[in-house]
Amino acid sequence: MTLLELQGVEKSFGGLSVLDGVTFSVETGSIQGLIGPNGAGKTTIFNIVSGLLRADAGTVVFDGEEITEMAPRRIARRGIGRTFQITRPYPGMTSRDNLLPGLLYAGGYDRVRDARTRATELLELVDLGADATEESRSLTMSEQKRLEIARALATEPELLLLDEVFAGLSHEDINRQIELIERIQSDLDITIILIEHVMEATMTICDQVGVLANGGIIAEDVPAEIAHNEQVIDVYLGSGGEGVGGGVDA
Ligand SMILES: Nc1ncnc2c1ncn2[C@@H]1O[C@H](COP(=O)(O)OP(=O)(O)OP(=O)(O)O)[C@@H](O)[C@H]1O
Ligand SMILES: [Mg+2]
Repeated sequence: MTLLELQGVEKSFGGLSVLDGVTFSVETGSIQGLIGPNGAGKTTIFNIVSGLLRADAGTVVFDGEEITEMAPRRIARRGIGRTFQITRPYPGMTSRDNLLPGLLYAGGYDRVRDARTRATELLELVDLGADATEESRSLTMSEQKRLEIARALATEPELLLLDEVFAGLSHEDINRQIELIERIQSDLDITIILIEHVMEATMTICDQVGVLANGGIIAEDVPAEIAHNEQVIDVYLGSGGEGVGGGVDA
C-alpha cells in the first residue's frame, strides 16, 4: 500500500527552480532512501511534506488524504514526524524534557506525567536512557543525533523523515545507528524516508532508493541497482563527489 505520494511537486526560491516536477511514492512499512548531490532539494522535499514550506505546484498525499496545504502541526498530528539536518535541542532542557513538546502537541498525550513516561521509553529505545536527565547540550554528536530521532518519534509518527542522521558519525556509530533505524522500522512499525550522503548506511538499510537531481527523481530502484546506475554515477561525479559506491559526504 502507498503511504506517501508526491505528484509533480515544484518549488522555486526567488528565481532558482529547485524542484521541477518531483513525483515519487513510498510504500507502507518500507525504508525509502532519498539521495542526490548537495543542493539538489532533498531537505526542501522534507520541508514541503512536513508543511514548513508550501509547494508552488503539485500535490502531497499521505495515507489517502491530501496534505499539500496543511499546517505543520496538523501534519505532525496526522502522523508525519521529522528530524532536522542541523540538530536543534531545546537549550537548557534535559533530554527527556526535549521530548515533551512533541508528545503533548502532536503525540496525543494530554498529561505531562504520561508524556514523561513515554519520553523515558523513547530515550531507552534510542539508547539514551542513562542520559534522560542530562542537559541536552552536553550530549556528544552521536547522542544528539539519537535525541533528534527520539524527538521526532515523540510525535508518534506513522511516517518518519530522517535528514542525514548518519552525518559526522564514526564507523562504529554508523553501525549502531543502522541497528537503531532497523529497530524503529520493525518494532514500532514505522515507515521511513532517509535522506543520506553516507552510502554505506543507505545501501545497507534501504529497500528502495530514489535519486534527486536537476529538479526531479532521475532514478528509483533497489540499492544494488542504484549503485551501478550510469546516470546516477554521472550526477555524483559531476557534483565533485566520490561516486555513489564510495563515501560521498556532505
Ligand atoms: N528557504 C529557502 N530559501 C531560499 N533558498 C532555499 C531555501 N531552502 C533551500 N533553498 C535552496 O534550495 C536549494 C536546495 O536546498 P536543499 O537544502 O533542499 O538541498 P539538499 O538536497 O538538502 O542539500 P544538502 O545535501 O546539502 O543538504 C539550495 O540551493 C538552497 O540554497
Ligand atoms: Mg539537506
